[in-house]
Amino acid sequence: MFSRLFGSKKSDESKENAEPPAHDWSWVGTDIHSHFIPGIDDGAQTMEDSIELVRAMQSLGFKSIVTTPHINYDHYPNTSDRILNGLKELHIALKEKGIHIPVRAAAEYFIDDYFLQILEREPLLTITKNQVLVEFSFAFQPVQLFEILFKMQTLKYQPIIAHPERYLFFMDKPDVYEELKDRGCLLQMNALSVTGYYGPQVKHTAEKLIEKGLYDYCGTDMHNIRHAETLKKFTESKHFAKISNYPFKNIQIEIPEGN
Ligand SMILES: [Fe+2]
Repeated sequence: MFSRLFGSKKSDESKENAEPPAHDWSWVGTDIHSHFIPGIDDGAQTMEDSIELVRAMQSLGFKSIVTTPHINYDHYPNTSDRILNGLKELHIALKEKGIHIPVRAAAEYFIDDYFLQILEREPLLTITKNQVLVEFSFAFQPVQLFEILFKMQTLKYQPIIAHPERYLFFMDKPDVYEELKDRGCLLQMNALSVTGYYGPQVKHTAEKLIEKGLYDYCGTDMHNIRHAETLKKFTESKHFAKISNYPFKNIQIEIPEGN
């Protein structure tokens, strides 16, 4: 499936010398949300998975990657050390395969009591500068959401809210997105949301947030090759043109190779 959609390594190399494809994700620049460190969350399970996904990102046009394993006490109690050690192994594997794309690691922090402990105890892994990617329960709004986001800000971090369009409990609160922005948070759209991958409600919300210009960043939130296939197919859709002019800030993030 992967080869059919994205071409083999050989054809990828020959593509590098050809004209860039008319429709791909290269206008985004750096992807800031993915799960490519093998075996530590629900993304890539093996180094082979990681390599396949990084190759898919290159084929989609992304210029560099900030990969963001979950840190979630109940399901994926990862640490900064565990993530950064995994990144070192990924760098070695990419080098061995001759794959040249800058990859850094940060984290997708799940907002709960454990996150509060980490926040008070140690430096967080940042996407860029002081910006930290956070998510929360899809089932309900955390009771102290705004207090915790404020606490981050008092510690000089700027929260990036991952996939705000996916929190269905926000649907009764259409002003919540503006409120998050007014409070100094950044919003990250999942690219898969506009494809309809998570259902029509999420797609509709994402389109509304695009119309209102409320998003700051785009992220693939890529966990597996199905996600890559969906993003590839979407570039052929007429809806892709609607978002491909959106001024996401990803393009401002430059990562030197080897990082
Ligand atoms: Fe994620």
